[in-house]
Amino acid sequence: MRILITGANGQLGHELQRALKDHTLLLGIWPEFDVLKGVVEKQVLEAEAEVVIHTAAYTDVDGAERDPDNAMAINAVGTERVARAAAKSGSRLIYLSTDYVFDGKKSAPYGETDEPNPLNAYGRSKLEGERRALASCPNTLVVRTAWMYSAHGKNFVKTVMELAHAQPELRVVGDQRGCPTHAGDLAEAMARMLSLNLRGVIHATGAGDCTWHEFACAIVSLMGVPVTVHAITTAEAKRAAPRPAYAVLANRRLAKLGIVLPHWRDSLTRFMRAELKARYPGNTLPHGSGWRTE
Ligand SMILES: NC(=O)c1ccc[n+]([C@@H]2O[C@H](COP(=O)([O-])OP(=O)(O)OC[C@H]3O[C@@H](n4cnc5c(N)ncnc54)[C@H](OP(=O)(O)O)[C@@H]3O)[C@@H](O)[C@H]2O)c1
Repeated sequence: MRILITGANGQLGHELQRALKDHTLLLGIWPEFDVLKGVVEKQVLEAEAEVVIHTAAYTDVDGAERDPDNAMAINAVGTERVARAAAKSGSRLIYLSTDYVFDGKKSAPYGETDEPNPLNAYGRSKLEGERRALASCPNTLVVRTAWMYSAHGKNFVKTVMELAHAQPELRVVGDQRGCPTHAGDLAEAMARMLSLNLRGVIHATGAGDCTWHEFACAIVSLMGVPVTVHAITTAEAKRAAPRPAYAVLANRRLAKLGIVLPHWRDSLTRFMRAELKARYPGNTLPHGSGWRTE
């Protein structure tokens, strides 16, 4: 299959390149491929791709709160450009979206048919991106995911690892719940979804759920360092963007197709083993402790 990946240099973009390596891949990489520019439509048309996987986005959640127009321009207007061109060239479109389209007021996992009501500018821009993608390209699949991490780029796991390496105590939000998702697992699941020619909306996250505090405790425990992780409230964290307290997604549609992402703890364990070996060869973590390699 001939596949255009936008945002190919991002976390998911990298993992998609790995998972889809047997296909013909065309890579949209900023700044040569910039969804803020009209020329992007020509670039999508010229790619003549059977599938366009649109991962490119403004992903800084707090940054979006301070600069909502830019987030909307990239995530909604830019997505519409890509979607229009995909439709014109007869391509299927897969658009990546987020758990932050929901307000978190539920206490049971959100399904694909639950009504979105984003609390922050990032969520509003991604929801508008969903709407424009679905309206502009008849053959669109919206894949909502959450709390993504990988070896590439900035993410929560890497930040916690760096902080735990440098300081004996961490303070992490304990009243927001979601689904950590390894970008590699999502890319593998998307590779399987590709052959099914799906449309509409589908949720795809790591299995299980936790709070950011529980997630950080698991990371620190896998590092084997004697770091204390204190749970703080969302109010104490003083972040620019409000976030849903409960952003757990139900992957029911995906499960019916026989596709299940691994439990977040299993993925994290695998990821941490590889990451620790790469970062601290010879087991050079501080505090005289040390991680296990088996
Ligand atoms: N990360 C998460 O936790 C998470 C959760 C839910 C949903 N999602 C969604 O999943 C998708 C992939 O996320 P990710 O974590 O892989 O994101 P990422 O690592 O931030 O990658 C996004 C990519 O988009 C590129 N980009 C930014 N502005 C652009 C523009 N104007 N034109 C073209 N490309 C542009 C970035 O370029 P630079 O590298 O040069 O900045 C980057 O390569 C996104 O759509 C995101 O909204 C992510």
